Order: sequence, then C-alpha cells, then structure tokens
Amino acid sequence: VYAKVQKATDTFLIDPAVILIVVGVVMFFVTFCGCIGALRENIHLLKTFSFSLTLVFLTQLAIAVLGFFYSDQTRDALGKFVNKAIVHYRDDLDLQNLMDYIQREFKCCGWNNHTDWSWNLYFNCTQGNPSSERCAVPYSCCTPVPGEVVINTMCGFGVQTQNYLEATKSIYPVGCADRAVLWIESHLLLVGALALGLSLPQIAGIVLSQILISQIQDEIKTRTE
Ligand SMILES: *[C@@H]1O[C@H](CO)[C@@H](O)[C@H](O)[C@H]1NC(C)=O
Ligand SMILES: *[C@@H]1O[C@H](CO)[C@@H](O)[C@H](O)[C@H]1NC(C)=O
Repeated sequence: VYAKVQKATDTFLIDPAVILIVVGVVMFFVTFCGCIGALRENIHLLKTFSFSLTLVFLTQLAIAVLGFFYSDQTRDALGKFVNKAIVHYRDDLDLQNLMDYIQREFKCCGWNNHTDWSWNLYFNCTQGNPSSERCAVPYSCCTPVPGEVVINTMCGFGVQTQNYLEATKSIYPVGCADRAVLWIESHLLLVGALALGLSLPQIAGIVLSQILISQIQDEIKTRTE
C-alpha cells in the first residue's frame, strides 16, 4: 500500500504494487477463514476456506490449460502488458525495475525486438523528438563487456537507427517474447515442478479442511443422537 500511495502515476492495472495488494488481501481473507475455522472448529469458516481454495486452484488450472492451448493469444496478452510497461518505463520506478530485471535476466531487448523501445516517449525514434534519449534503448539491453573498467551506461544510445547486425554488437539481439518461449521450452521440467509445488499445498489445504469438516459433522451427529 505504501508503494502505491507514495507514487502518483496512472499505471493502475499493471502496477506490481496493485498486484501485491490484491494477492495480499485475497490471501489474508482465505487464510483467516482457514486459521480461525480450524481453531474454533467452525464449519462455515472451514467451508469458506475450502471453497475459496478450490476456486483459486481451478482458476489457476484453467489459466494454465488455456495458456497452453491458446499460446498465440497468451503471447499477445503478455505483449500488451510489456507494451504498457515500456510506455510507462520512465513514469514508474517499479515498472522500470521490472523491465530492467526481465531484460537482464532473459538477455533480451524489447518485446519483438529492440525497436519496440520507440513505444516510450523518451526513446521514440521519430525525427524531431527532442528527448536526449531519442533512438536509444535502456542500459539493461546492453551486453556486458568483459573487463570493462568504466561501465558505459550510454551504450544503448542510437541503436534503434542501426541495422540488426550493428545493433547486436552492443545489445541483446533477441526480443523478450522469443526469449520467453525459448526459456519455457528449455525449462519444461522446472515449469512443471513449479506448477506442482504451487498446487500441492492448495490440494492439501482442500483435502485437510474437508476431513476436518466431516469430523466435526460426525462429532455433532454423535452428540445429538
Ligand atoms: C522489429 O519488429 C517489428 C515488428 O515485429 C518489425 O516490423 C521490424 O522490422 C523489426 N525490426 C528489426 C530491426 O528487426
Ligand atoms: C513515436 O512518436 C510519434 C509522434 O509522437 C508517434 O506518432 C509514433 O507512433 C511513436 N512511435 C511509436 C512506435 O509508438
């Protein structure tokens, strides 16, 4: 909330701070129901907990399955997100850090290629753009130079005017879209393990709360008999 309040930008829907707030509120609600429900052996809270977890689990499953079968649409949707992140790169420090992290970590530049940085007003390569960064790309696009003593943070300047071969001498030559696809294809095992690691605790929560619910119901039945 602090991260959201202390900046005054209109990047609401793609702001990482907003995503954290939403996930935090949902998690607080669900775990509160589970915790108090188990402590007080309250069937209504336990049922709410079990139902919410099931809902979250099915949503994740649906997203995973749809994302797999509609990979082109998934790519477009992610492209829209990255487009917004590039457009607001200089307005929002969180988005700037996120884009820099993605480009450095995946060794890529832009979404399709480095000329995507023209989406941003500061880097826009249109003639007459008064920005000093016209036709540049951010420093996070730059390939590290081994043994460089003074880091050249301006190594991305003017690369949008260069042709592909020239540009690849100083920056990562691949767009982040292609890089992401390559990464997923070469880390299928890790992606699968991650999905399993995320879903196992949820399934455990659903099963355990159902067991507790039926135990409480049995108890109530034997007492009333
Ligand atoms: C970058 O990608 C755009 C859109 O896919 C394409 O039109 C353009 O030719 C590409 N530029 C370079 C230098 O590859
Ligand atoms: C760059 O700026 C010009 C003028 O503001 C705009 O027409 C153009 O669409 C921008 N380029 C991109 C790739 O968004």
